[in-house]
Amino acid sequence: MPKYTLSVNNKQLSVEVDADTPLLWVLRDHLNLVGTKYGCGVAQCGACTIHYNGSPVRSCQLPISAVGPGKVVTIEGLSENGDHPLQKAWIEMDVAQCGYCQAGQIMAAAALLKKNPHPSDEEIDTTITNICRCGTNVRIRKAIHLAASKGGKS
Ligand code: FES
Ligand code: FES
Repeated sequence: MPKYTLSVNNKQLSVEVDADTPLLWVLRDHLNLVGTKYGCGVAQCGACTIHYNGSPVRSCQLPISAVGPGKVVTIEGLSENGDHPLQKAWIEMDVAQCGYCQAGQIMAAAALLKKNPHPSDEEIDTTITNICRCGTNVRIRKAIHLAASKGGKS
């Protein structure tokens, strides 16, 4: 099997996997970064959202052979101690219900705030297309506004 070296959460890591292995499974099964979740496998739900060169990407759709030297950041690498402004806002607003989709939601929200530090409800709804089966979307919006009010992009 081919060997790939990739940058994940600012570390250079190597894996030997088939070329068409989705990044999602490399992260979860080979690098033990299990915060990134499998939901649908077909780019619909967003549970597998990571940052690739700063943009939100559905890792179930990105084969390892296409990753190259690009920078991958997972929920584990978003902040050193789980204290990103969005993570704090998520706790303060008690956003999570079952929690399954939330890592992907936070990664999508973090990418949004980097581009647009004060998004409107409509901008949140149109940009963050992640699905939450528990229906936490109203609290997600509130938490994004809270993080934005505290300068939430870093
Ligand atoms: S698992 Fe990737 S979008 Fe659903
Ligand atoms: S909190 Fe349960 S799927 Fe979103």
